[in-house]
Order: sequence, then C-alpha cells, then structure tokens
Amino acid sequence: MAKESRARATTLWVRTPTARYPVWVGSGLLAQSGQRIKSLRPGCRRVFVISSPRVWRHWGAKLAPGLRAAGIRAEALLMDDREQAKRLATVEGLAEKLLARGADRGALLVALGGGVVGDVAGYLAASYMRGVEYVQVPTTLVAQVDSALGGKTGVNLRGGKNLLGAFHHPLAVLADVRTLDTLPAREYRAGLYEVVKCAVLGDAALFRFLQRNMASVLARRPQALRRALARALRVKARIVGRDEREHGERRLLNLGHTFGHALETLSGYRNLRHGEAVGWGILAATQLSHRLGLLPERDARRILRVVASVGRLPALPRAKPERVYAQLFADKKKAGKELRFVLPRRIGRAEVIEGVPRGDVLAVLRDLGPQ
Ligand SMILES: NC(=O)c1ccc[n+]([C@@H]2O[C@H](COP(=O)([O-])OP(=O)(O)OC[C@H]3O[C@@H](n4cnc5c(N)ncnc54)[C@H](O)[C@@H]3O)[C@@H](O)[C@H]2O)c1
Ligand SMILES: [Zn+2]
Repeated sequence: MAKESRARATTLWVRTPTARYPVWVGSGLLAQSGQRIKSLRPGCRRVFVISSPRVWRHWGAKLAPGLRAAGIRAEALLMDDREQAKRLATVEGLAEKLLARGADRGALLVALGGGVVGDVAGYLAASYMRGVEYVQVPTTLVAQVDSALGGKTGVNLRGGKNLLGAFHHPLAVLADVRTLDTLPAREYRAGLYEVVKCAVLGDAALFRFLQRNMASVLARRPQALRRALARALRVKARIVGRDEREHGERRLLNLGHTFGHALETLSGYRNLRHGEAVGWGILAATQLSHRLGLLPERDARRILRVVASVGRLPALPRAKPERVYAQLFADKKKAGKELRFVLPRRIGRAEVIEGVPRGDVLAVLRDLGPQ
C-alpha cells in the first residue's frame, strides 16, 4: 500500500540561489509524511504542527500516525485561520507556546492548513529564534498550487495584506491531494483559477489538459488533479528558481492579481475568495491584452472559455470602474510599486506591460460587469 502510494507521488525540485527543496505531489502522502521528513532530517524525533481546529479535525488523524510511523512525535498548536487572524499577534501567541514547550533553534515546524496557516507558520519559522525550519503541508488548492511554494511568508497590517513578512523557504512541501476531499466546493474552485493562471502564463500543454479534462479536475479525480497540480507547480518552481525575490520574472505569477487584489479589497474580503478575484483578474487581463492588440482573438477566447468552465464567478463588488482603477493605484503605491499589468501574449506566455492607458483599463472594467 505504502509502495503503491509512493509510486503515485511526483517529486519536483525548487532550486534558488539560497535554497533547494523537494515538492512532493500525490495522493495519500500524509501517511508517508514521517518517512519523507526523515529522508531530509534523519535525526528528527519531534515536530510542532501549526494548524487550525478545522483542518486538524479533518486531517490531524492522518498526519500524526504518518509521522509516528517514522518515530516522530507531533505536537499540535492550533490557531484561528480566518484572514482577520493573519496578524502579528497570532505569530506572537504561537511563539510563546513554542517557547513554553521547549522548542529551541533546532525545532521543526509543520504547517498543516491553507494559505493563512502556511503564511503565519512560515513567518513564525522565519522569526522564531531568528529562524527555524518548517515543512509546508498545504490542504487547500490555493495553498497547494501557490502559497506553499516560493518562500513568501507574512501577515497583514490594518492598512493592507501581507505587508509584514519575510522570505523563508520551507524544507519541503508535501501536497497530498486527498486533503482536498474535505474542502468546500467553493474553496476548491477558487484554487482552480490559480491553476488556470499557471497554464496561461507558462504552460500551453497544461492549458490544453485543462481544456480537455476540466470535468475530471472538477470531480477531484486524484489522477487528473495530481497531473494538473504538478504541472502548475512546475511553472511556479521554474520561475521562482530564476527570480527568487521578485525583481523580474516572478512578477509574471501575478497574472490576474493586479485586478484581483483591487477587487478583493473592494469586496471587503467578504464576497470574493482570493482565487475568485484572480479568476476575474484573468478575465480582465485577457480582455485588456486583446484590446491593446497584444493577444490574438483566438487565444483570448480560449482563455475566457477555460475560466468559464471552472464555474460561475460570484458577482463583482459594486464599484464604478474609476473606483476600481483608483484602487489598483492605491494597492501598488502602498507596496512602493508601479502600476504594471501582467498580460497574456499567447497561451503559455505572459509579459509585464507598463504604461497601459487609463482609458483602456476603464473600458475593460466597464465591460467586465455590474457597477
Ligand atoms: N505566500 C504566498 O505566496 C501566498 C500565495 C497565495 C495566497 N497566499 C495567502 O493565502 C491565504 C489564502 O489561503 P487559502 O485560499 O488557502 O485560504 P484559507 O487558508 O483561508 O483557508 C480557507 C478555508 O478552508 C479551510 N480549510 C483548509 N483546508 C481545508 C481542508 N482540507 N478541508 C476543509 N477545510 C479546509 C480553512 O479552515 C479556511 O476556513 C491568503 O491570506 C493569501 O494572502 C499566500
Ligand atoms: Zn494568488
């Protein structure tokens, strides 16, 4: 059984100037978590699992025996994983608990949960005793395809998301697609927009796979899912390897995110999930690119169709295009960045474009939906 599930795992490697680590993608991998961690840290006897009550309830009972089988004891530290709890106070609370339990500089953390848990646990790992190691065990599709890999960790400030953080790569990423079984349908679909994003910006073959197999992927068939996920992760791993600190190429991974973040903010993080905002953002970037003469009509249509095949996106927040445009600027200004758009140039390739005329952006926003 163990052998069989081992055969169903795909291993990718992230190689950056400062780190090199495996990303394991497969079905039933929680059961092998211990032996896999041991392969990297042979002396490991104890780990601190950072998770949320809900995720621990669903998957703690699978993870803990997987660790125990390799002689690793798991101590769970649970946190509130609502976006509002992604704050420094949560990191501090966890750090106090780590200290009380005797965690020293050799401690190993395991982040079991979605992007909120991963970002908080990653930042905790980056800062606890000036840095300890951690393993990402993402349990949402957004976290598996995006946040667990790449080393970006952090928490929110009142004035904006992810404004307090650090780059800190994990020791490994273990993505068990089985954990997605308990994910609400909406969360699952939201993550699929990030998979579509990777296909559009960097993998035409993955795009074709999604065109043909969206029904299997939506049905969460492990094989289809593992294939799509592994390919999407390969896109991200390749880009992160070439531009660890987002000075250039890594910006491409923000396809759909410039619009997406503005829409997320305007929705007050209530009506739109992050991935759904990205879905809208991909539609906007596609239309903008086509409008500017940078994307052939045929490719634009194909992208719009694949996004639509994921499901119906929730309504956009009620805001005039001018208001959305102002928000696009505000987000970038806060982060000290220029307003740039990542635009698809053809399926499998995107580019960062500067100096897009305001009128074109407004026109696309007007076409997009209700104000
Ligand atoms: N660091 C990065 O590079 C990066 C990239 C993308 C997103 N993020 C961050 O990730 C966060 C969003 O993450 P998310 O979309 O994973 O959402 P999330 O972490 O908010 O999780 C969504 C919900 O699903 C629940 N959940 C998680 N796993 C489950 C499972 N297997 N079964 C049932 N329920 C489960 C959680 O308890 C939560 O209620 C945001 O804070 C975003 O900023 C970070
Ligand atoms: Zn994203």
